Parts: sequence; structure tokens; C-alpha cells
Amino acid sequence: MIKTIKDLDISGKRVFIRVDVNVPLDRYQNITDDARIQAIIPSVQYALDHNAKVIIASHLGRPKGKKVPEMSLAPVAKRLGRLLSQKVKMAPDCIGFEVKSMVDSMSPGEILLLENLRFHPGEQKNDDEFAKALADLCDVYINDAFAVCHRIHASVAAITKFIKVRSAGFLLDKELSYFKKAMEDPKHPLVAIIGGAKISSKLGALKNMLKHVDKFIVGGAMGNTFLKAQGLDIGKSKIEEDQVSVAAELMETAREKGIKFYIPVDAVVADNFDSKAEIKIVTVQEVPRNWMILDIGPATSALFSEAIYDAKTIVWNGPLGAFEMDAFSRGTLAMAHAVANSYALSIVGGGDTDVAIHKAGESDRITYISTGGGAFLALLEGTTLPGVAALDGC
Ligand code: 3PG
Repeated sequence: MIKTIKDLDISGKRVFIRVDVNVPLDRYQNITDDARIQAIIPSVQYALDHNAKVIIASHLGRPKGKKVPEMSLAPVAKRLGRLLSQKVKMAPDCIGFEVKSMVDSMSPGEILLLENLRFHPGEQKNDDEFAKALADLCDVYINDAFAVCHRIHASVAAITKFIKVRSAGFLLDKELSYFKKAMEDPKHPLVAIIGGAKISSKLGALKNMLKHVDKFIVGGAMGNTFLKAQGLDIGKSKIEEDQVSVAAELMETAREKGIKFYIPVDAVVADNFDSKAEIKIVTVQEVPRNWMILDIGPATSALFSEAIYDAKTIVWNGPLGAFEMDAFSRGTLAMAHAVANSYALSIVGGGDTDVAIHKAGESDRITYISTGGGAFLALLEGTTLPGVAALDGC
């Protein structure tokens, strides 16, 4: 069991909370989705309510060690302040003399947001000196940044060498507990739904999940490579030529283990990757030569829905088609409805899957939507997240 903020004495202390509020911004610096900010409120509010001096740190985007004004966390300070109904002070940097004196003048119950950690190259280099400068700002370290726990960065890893009193925040704890329920100690049947573009980027996850699941459902562009591995001619659909034999091996392993493996039986095809392209629904045996598969078809939606009918646990990562275009979104949206309608414990995470769930209007009927992309995938691969390992022994 991992320690949480509840296990620590934080009253009157300087509490550094590493969060991941790497939120999407439009070109006017407006936050277009604040789910990651909302997700950290329980830990932040708890620390404030328990009289801590709360110092929040995060990255935003990939500024590559340089100050990039468009990647400032200032919009987050405003939104966080609104959500907490409390003033959130914005620091001009995350280390340095000015930041130190802002921290020194804080009173219990106040909150300070540090500027983007990645404006310093030391963050991504997991640099000890940078980590020590961050650690000097506080007495207690809380990691509530699940979405960046797969990165070995200074504010996630090295910093823990310099702070004895440390724990997970409520969000990190919740993410790990749901994942445990889904993959380590699941109620069976456990069904994995895996979509997205590439087998190569999810190979580790696919292999690891074969150790746990009872059924596998595959769609998205990666499903094309599985269809190809079945010897089907799928026109000019996107595939990974070098992964065809890998796809065949995965299906063979599943067969040997008695895992039911579902791939599409029909598809929405288009003559072009364009929302105005000509579209048809065909069986996977009848994809016209110069057309491409861009979504699962209605028969596949029915098949996949039936396959999850008796599921007790569902883990879903990756859309089943090019759902960002309405014409190719029906398959992914239908899957979202089917998962929401099931009686299973359903965990969704990674990439665009949460966007698809929101688009389907089903976010309230999914048991848990992870805030992690790469971190969620790393858990599916069966790896211990470096950020979590760094908390061990505290
Ligand atoms: C994410 O959005 O997945 C996290 O914030 C990590 O961001 P990164 O991929 O830039 O490290």
C-alpha cells in the first residue's frame, strides 16, 4: 500500500505538490479541457484545509528547457483559483531567489503555483542540482502527477532523494487502485479493447495484456495489420508492414491460451482520408482496391458489443477509427455506448480514448477515466512507474 497525503503531518508545513496540469490550450491561451486541473483539487483542497503552505509544480507542453511564454502556467493559476474559490499566486519561475522569497512569505492556507518546470533543462535531465533547488522550497513532497510518472524527471524522481517526508496524492493513489482492480486483481471475464494507430507503439502492452485478459478486441488502424495477417486484401488501408508477422503471432498466442480474439468483420471505407470522401460500408473481405478502412462497420460494432456483454472488467485504450472526423466516428462512439451500458468495471485511458468518451457523452457512465496517456500505457505494459518507485520506502 502506498502512503498518501493523509498519512503525513502537513499542518503549517511547506507542501510541494507535483501535479500534471499539462492541459490543452487554444491559440489565445484558453484552456480547452480542464479535466487534469479538476482531478488535482482533492489533494490541493485537503492540503489547504489542513493548514499547509501549498506549492504546486507542473510542466506544460514540451518547451525543451527554454522559457516559452505560450507554455506559461499562468492560465492554470487562474482556472485553479476559480475552482478553489481562492487566490492562486503565480511565481515567475520554479526556482531561484524570487521564488524562494515568495515561498518564505507564505502563510498556512495559501497557495503558490510555480512556473513551468520544463523551462529548465534540469527537469527532463533528472538533474540533481535542479531537484535539490526544488526540494529546498519545501518540507513535504507529494506526487499527484500520475500522467508524468512514467518519466524519469527531476520533479518526479531525483527530488525524492532530497525530501524524506513524501507520499502520493489522492489522484495518483486513485489511478493506481483502479488499475490494480482492472489488471492485477480483476473480476473475470476481463476484456481489453485496444485501438489507435500502431501495433509497434503498443506491442509491450499487447504482450503483457495477453497474460491477464480473457478477450481481446482490436480496432483502429492497428486492426488493419491484424486483418492483413489473416491474409485479407484491405486496399490502401494504413498498415504496418513490418508488424504483420507480430500480429499473426499475437493472435496465435491468444489462440493457444484460449483467449478470444476479436478483429473487425466489416468496415467503413473511403476513397480518400478526407471528411468529404466517398464512403461505403463493406465486409473486410470486400475492401475495394484503392479504398481505405477508416472505421469499424455496423456489424463489427454489434459483434464487439456482444463480446463485452458478459464482461465484468473492461480496459480500453485507443479509438477504433478516425473518430475526429464525424464520418468515421460511429464505431468508436458505439463502443463507448456499449462500454457505458455494460455492468463491468470499466477503465479507459490513453491517447484520445477519453476524448471519444466525452464526445459520446458517456463520461459519467464509465467507472474511471484515467488522466494518463503514456503513463497509462506504461502500466498496461506491466512496468513499475519510476515516479511511483521513487515514493517507495517513504
Ligand atoms: C502527458 O500529457 O501524457 C503528460 O503530461 C506527459 O507529457 P510528455 O509526454 O510531454 O512527457
